[in-house]
Amino acid sequence: MSHFADRRSRSLWMEVDAAPHAAPLRSNAECDVVIIGAGIAGISTAYELAVEGSRVMIIDRGKIAGNMTARTTAHLAPQCDDLTSAMIGLRGEDISRRFYESQAAAVDRIEEIQNRESINCDFRRLDGYLFQALNTDSKIIEDELDAARKIGAPVHRLVGLPFAHCEQQHVLRYPRQGTFHPLKYLKGLVAAIEARGGRFHAGTAVESVEERDDGKVVVTTAGGKITAGAAVVTTNSPIVDRFALHTKMAPYRTYAMAFSIQKGAIPDALYWDTLDPYHYVRLRPGDDRTDYVIVGGSDHKSGEADDAEVRFEALEAWTRNLIPAAQEVTHRWSGQVLETIDYAGFIGKNPGNNSIYVHTGDSGQGMTHGVAGAMINAALILGRECKWTDVYEPSRKTPAGIGNFLKENLTPVKNFAEYLAPGELCAVSDLKAGHGAIIRHGPSKIAAYRDEAGKLYARSAACTHVGCHLHWNSFETCWDCPCHGSHFAFDGTPLNAPAVGPLAEIELNNQS
Ligand SMILES: Cc1cc2nc3c(=O)[nH]c(=O)nc-3n(C[C@H](O)[C@H](O)[C@H](O)COP(=O)(O)OP(=O)(O)OC[C@H]3O[C@@H](n4cnc5c(N)ncnc54)[C@H](O)[C@@H]3O)c2cc1C
Ligand code: FES
Repeated sequence: MSHFADRRSRSLWMEVDAAPHAAPLRSNAECDVVIIGAGIAGISTAYELAVEGSRVMIIDRGKIAGNMTARTTAHLAPQCDDLTSAMIGLRGEDISRRFYESQAAAVDRIEEIQNRESINCDFRRLDGYLFQALNTDSKIIEDELDAARKIGAPVHRLVGLPFAHCEQQHVLRYPRQGTFHPLKYLKGLVAAIEARGGRFHAGTAVESVEERDDGKVVVTTAGGKITAGAAVVTTNSPIVDRFALHTKMAPYRTYAMAFSIQKGAIPDALYWDTLDPYHYVRLRPGDDRTDYVIVGGSDHKSGEADDAEVRFEALEAWTRNLIPAAQEVTHRWSGQVLETIDYAGFIGKNPGNNSIYVHTGDSGQGMTHGVAGAMINAALILGRECKWTDVYEPSRKTPAGIGNFLKENLTPVKNFAEYLAPGELCAVSDLKAGHGAIIRHGPSKIAAYRDEAGKLYARSAACTHVGCHLHWNSFETCWDCPCHGSHFAFDGTPLNAPAVGPLAEIELNNQS
């Protein structure tokens, strides 16, 4: 059992601020391309366009690279993390091969850019090891070996891994994967974009994105309007789409923690097992004697569990069993990934628009998706050929994915029925300091939070995207929307898209 007393969610990368100088937008502006959302997808897109001479502006409602990108664990993996055999089953060998090529090209691109721009970001090429989970058979290993060969991915079969109890486990080794410090990399990219005239604005929420009849796009924020030739929406979950894309993907919350470990105690490589959800292990360099070992997994659909402590305990027990050299826990955090029904993101022209492009559906591989997507959207905007557009085409249909589609779309149906259920507490007076809960308020529901000083925050429990019923997340101290992945701070401020507006404040009378 962990003695880790720090209850804050804090990742290993957050000590680096990618653009501390980025100020809010305060006037109208014009540019060639406006990019909405400054995570790895948005910043990489800005870079691809800026190096080609486009005038770019990058707008974020929070910090630059401060959202899901700051919560990653930074495995740069070319092969599908939902298993290549599963992807071939849904989309066939040709698309699966080109998916692999595009993701491998993203790792190459990061390597090339950090060299070209002299960014010191701990980038390194490493082997990746997929290993048979304890007490399971080796069928997935056989299937993945077969699948990797079909798409032409380099792979080697082995027995044994340098972890306890793993001497006889079946293993696949995938060469030339990678890892890096994502915020050091993006800080370097921000500087490279600014050197080419790009402008970053943090603390600037985009309220609407409209395409005019003349093909220009107008982006509205509280500080001014931006008129551009094109817009790329890289808000992780798209703010320009109410249903079409959202029905083809689902939000999952995922957990990660770091331990200190003596340098050299385990080989520097990328490891993950065959369970669903899988466990993974990777290293981050520390000082002369100590590294960090990062472990993650324990995913669940967003909003469907509020038991982070139990999940961290399970992750810690798994780690101490396989890696007895892991020392004390140094960081714990969670975040969200968007799983699409056919395992690839949605990247390209937003359905129904000519000048608005979208990037979403990271499928747990948002680092490589972010960089591959940047190359694709930049090529489309610049009118160039790109051999991967159909792999990620946002309007694609995947008939074989219908099972996943039906499974994921049960969530909104079940969710709206929750409005009929009683509240978790009878009255706000029952709410203890530091807690959040749903409380019935006449015909509607309140998302109520009482801070440590006793101040009550009463907000509507209806998500401002399309109205789903929110759930409290006590580890992150926020409200999670199970339908399409919005998060709201305890005071109703939107934290994660697709929601744009804050939760409505609720006036309570004395009887409430
Ligand atoms: C624990 C964890 C481990 C992971 N591990 C890996 C891994 O090993 N490898 C991997 O490839 N991927 C991994 N991922 C996934 C990866 O981190 C994400 O998919 C990726 O960072 C998403 O980047 P993004 O640019 O799409 O989104 P974000 O980084 O979330 O950026 C979107 C930005 O849009 C902004 N925004 C939203 N709405 C608005 C608005 N209305 N106006 C203005 N701005 C707005 C947000 O503030 C945010 O900064 C992991 C994720 C988690 C949570
Ligand atoms: S995110 Fe769509 S309803 Fe909440």
